[in-house]
Amino acid sequence: MIQDKKTLFSGMQATGTLTLGNFAGALKNWVTLSDQYECFYCVVDLHSITVRQDPSTLRKRARDLLTLYIAAGLDPVKNCIYYQSHVSAHAELAWILNCFTYMGELNRMTQYKDKCAKHADNINAGLFTYPVLMAADILLFQSDVVPVGIDQMQHLEITRDIAQRFNGIYGEVFTIPEAYIGKSGAKIMSLQDPTKKMSKSDENPNASIYLTDDPDTVIRKCKRAVTDSGNEIVYREDKPGICNLMDIYMAMTGRSVAEVEREFDGKGYGEFKMAVGEAVVSVLRPIQERAESLRKDKAYLDSIIKENGEKAAYIANKTLRKVQRKVGFPDRIR
Ligand code: TYM
Repeated sequence: MIQDKKTLFSGMQATGTLTLGNFAGALKNWVTLSDQYECFYCVVDLHSITVRQDPSTLRKRARDLLTLYIAAGLDPVKNCIYYQSHVSAHAELAWILNCFTYMGELNRMTQYKDKCAKHADNINAGLFTYPVLMAADILLFQSDVVPVGIDQMQHLEITRDIAQRFNGIYGEVFTIPEAYIGKSGAKIMSLQDPTKKMSKSDENPNASIYLTDDPDTVIRKCKRAVTDSGNEIVYREDKPGICNLMDIYMAMTGRSVAEVEREFDGKGYGEFKMAVGEAVVSVLRPIQERAESLRKDKAYLDSIIKENGEKAAYIANKTLRKVQRKVGFPDRIR
């Protein structure tokens, strides 16, 4: 018997320019997994407005991000690539799930605390309930697997808790999702401070490699990456800078720790940093070229956006209707 494929869901925020962290921790794995699952890849623009955005910049970034999903190798015919704001079921389910989530649970979210510290002038309710919207995203599609970087694990846990609580009251409504964390690249650190996550919002441009960086910039940033004063390329706790560069190299080449240590045995930091930079360039360059030519094909992108948005809405609404019936909302008159 042919088994139906399991479902995969993931998303990224359309804020800032994507970093190598977003690519290594998420996008790269999305591409690898896309043949094995029925996939939904969302541009999560509803989440983006928890931080103040300039409207025209947000619209442009959302389109660039969707383009980048395709340029990175996701086939928009086989995979459903769409904007969260085009599928109203996300917001509707989020409201219902808000009523099944405790303030105490949301208060514990470390990303909420970090964002409050960063945006002290705009601690809005959306920032607080952000993980509930993320739970709605995932649960709407009855997702089995959610490929993310390590920083999203806490949000995955609360999603599972909300789903289990809801199922405990109303029966088996939601599939309980599992996080998928890649073997390498699940937490890429800043090139300037390897104890800190590489982040789109870092003020120091040398701390992050952006997916739009040209080859010279990538090589320069790798060369300037902060490392220790030793000269051995080994994966060891007291060498966070080298570990981070090794993580990047492994994520780009698919090699293991042992293979990388062997490859650079007896070689110095300079040679290693150069090799890391070149490995990054060889992965990013074809993606940048595809993105460039896709951006020119407006009609093609528009058709993808329309068709995938409709498909996502159709599937999401099935779950939403079921949930609405379960909680006791009146049936729709046909
Ligand atoms: P976002 O937009 O911050 O990041 C997108 C993805 O990139 C991963 N990531 C990293 N991985 C490794 N190293 C890093 N330095 C690094 N920085 C970011 C993130 O873990 C993520 O997988 N809340 C989510 C978006 C979201 C979502 C969802 C994800 C909304 N709904 C449903 C999955 C399922 C976020 O802000 O990701």
